[in-house]
Amino acid sequence: MVPPTAHAPFAIRPARPDDAPALAALMDGIYAERRWFVGDVGPTAGELRRRLRALDPARLWFGVAVAPSGDGEALLGWLEARRFALPRLAHVASLTLAVAPEARRRGVGRSLLRAVEPWAARVGVVKLRLDVRASNAAALALYAAEGYVEEGRERRQIRDADGEDDNVVLAKFLD
Ligand SMILES: CC(C)(COP(=O)(O)OP(=O)(O)OC[C@H]1O[C@@H](n2cnc3c(N)ncnc32)[C@H](O)[C@@H]1OP(=O)(O)O)[C@@H](O)C(=O)NCCC(=O)NCCS
Repeated sequence: MVPPTAHAPFAIRPARPDDAPALAALMDGIYAERRWFVGDVGPTAGELRRRLRALDPARLWFGVAVAPSGDGEALLGWLEARRFALPRLAHVASLTLAVAPEARRRGVGRSLLRAVEPWAARVGVVKLRLDVRASNAAALALYAAEGYVEEGRERRQIRDADGEDDNVVLAKFLD
């Protein structure tokens, strides 16, 4: 995949099953940074393809940011918003977001976060929530700028070679 140029335009669209290989490669790169997520490895391309084929649009929004690259597209980032299944929690969706290192600070994360809101309104989700490591200053700055507020903090929840980190729970109400 050709890396996007610094000023390449990008668009947000729903992920498709044929994005799976590029998405798996993007996720691998971000997991390899080992600083943002709690797990060490992302899903395989096969797992992603199956998940995207079976996607229920009333339950899951899976958006990708793409930029023109050669004859095709480069994947710059993704956002997954998953509604809770239990009826008493079905107005809440949990988010996962990441942007490729070379595409950060160009508004991709902000655009993905904004793009999920029309889906939320359509399906009746009024609360978006997520977990973020307390050491993740970039993500905390983005979420604060987009109206997410801290709901709680699990202290010393994450432990790795770099030491301990809190898990911060953030949320935004849309109603
Ligand atoms: C956090 C992350 C998604 C932000 O995405 P991004 O596309 O780089 O962010 P944007 O360019 O949309 O930034 C929007 C705003 O967020 C804030 N922000 C983003 N990155 C920042 C940084 N490194 N330092 C300070 N503020 C930052 C700024 O307010 C920025 O607005 P500005 O550029 O006009 O000042 C991206 O850094 C990333 O993927 N990090 C690794 C994975 C990760 O942390 N995922 C989230 C886990 S909860």
